[in-house]
Amino acid sequence: MQFDDRQFHEFLSEEEISGLLDKLADRINADYGMNDRILLVGVLKGAFVVMADLIRRLHSDVEIDFVRTVKASGKDSEGTHTFLKDISVDVKKRHVIIVEEIIDSGRTLQFLYDRIKAAKPLSLKVATLLDKKAKRKVQLNADYVGKEVGDEFLIGYGLDLEEKCRCLPAIYALKYPN
Ligand code: IMP
Ligand code: MG
Repeated sequence: MQFDDRQFHEFLSEEEISGLLDKLADRINADYGMNDRILLVGVLKGAFVVMADLIRRLHSDVEIDFVRTVKASGKDSEGTHTFLKDISVDVKKRHVIIVEEIIDSGRTLQFLYDRIKAAKPLSLKVATLLDKKAKRKVQLNADYVGKEVGDEFLIGYGLDLEEKCRCLPAIYALKYPN
């Protein structure tokens, strides 16, 4: 596949993504009771596709919310994030699961995790479709991981290349050298 002057090859087909989500959902379904009050918090923009496909595989009638963060600019801001859209639900009586499409350095997740933890949910876990674990810069791991991946740049299924390509149903990896 070609985008601009860049070449991509298929990395995960629709069927493979579906299989990963089935397994992820099985594990979440096994860990929570039907009556547990679960709140899934999707990290915009990328996670909205995973969220839509994941909630339809869960047995509990989950509630959902979304957050959007940006990296703070300026000196000494490495790892500092701020909310563009904060969580809009009281998490106190809920089991919260943060939902990501991919974790890279983990800094976005660390920021969110700390903020949500401070609001005292009943429990707090993290689910991600993909995990670039070798690139982690913080001591935080996801509880539910669809697939561990390397350092390749991925697009499709919510993952963007300069805001494009999120709508592709499969996931593609950039070919080096392009
Ligand atoms: P982190 O804070 O470094 O973990 O960044 C995570 C965010 O970077 C993800 O939510 C994605 O939006 C973005 N990201 C990381 N890797 C990729 C990729 O391969 N393709 C597209 N976006 C990515
Ligand atoms: Mg992105």
